[in-house]
Amino acid sequence: MGLPYRILTIWSNTITPRIGHKIYSFLVLTSTNDEALKLAKKGAKEGTIVISRIQTKGRGRGENIWYSEPGGLYISIILRPNLSREELLPFSLVIANSVAKAIETVIKVKIGTKWINDLIIDNKKVGGILVETEGETEKPDFLIAGIGVNVNQTHFPNNDTMTSLRLIVSQKISRWQLVKAIGKELEKDYPLFLSNKFSPFREEYKSRCAILNKAVSVIVGSDKILGKVIDIDEKGRLILLTSNQKLIRLTLGRILREFDPLFC
Ligand code: BTN
Repeated sequence: MGLPYRILTIWSNTITPRIGHKIYSFLVLTSTNDEALKLAKKGAKEGTIVISRIQTKGRGRGENIWYSEPGGLYISIILRPNLSREELLPFSLVIANSVAKAIETVIKVKIGTKWINDLIIDNKKVGGILVETEGETEKPDFLIAGIGVNVNQTHFPNNDTMTSLRLIVSQKISRWQLVKAIGKELEKDYPLFLSNKFSPFREEYKSRCAILNKAVSVIVGSDKILGKVIDIDEKGRLILLTSNQKLIRLTLGRILREFDPLFC
């Protein structure tokens, strides 16, 4: 038996000409990325957005579950960038930066990032980005940019690493206002990324990046690497001075919260 899901609305041309020209809005989905993937395979145009009030199988990066209770913002955007997988690597940093700016316009509070694409306030996570592509071709036909933001949730049972915009500003926040703000930021940033890649975003991303010059441990596959974050390079890679004094560049990895004071 299928999910009891139903489309609330399909809107057209509500935000901006490119990003959000069409919005599919659902009450419940397994994952907005799954629905966006289906639409993309059927030929949905670039900029199509899928939103759901809740997700029953929200995904985070790696093997993580993205708990998708009522009150959060769960949105996926279909894009067709015509770039190689390598060129696309820094794109999730660009989206994190765009979403951070969008949140700032709505709640007037500075948003930090934690490489690769966690959105944080006071070292607690308020959102994350999951960029997915399909197939093995050098240039994917499309990508799905999944964005999750903790907007109006008031508690995170057994998880003191999460917070929400509402908990930060002590008032309810309009998710629709946030969707519009994200659309507006990406309307500017996406074409800039297509033409100039990560360079125009690098300094701003670095200024938000909460782990720059900090000692961290990074999980890469089954390895745990200790080191000090020296820089984010022009391709969005993390430059780490490891505990045995080697400079390495990482394209992927998960930063652990623990900091080793020996390297600070
Ligand atoms: C992360 O920080 O691990 C990424 C979280 C991404 C969550 C969003 S919510 C909308 C979209 N649908 C999903 O299943 N995941 C992304």
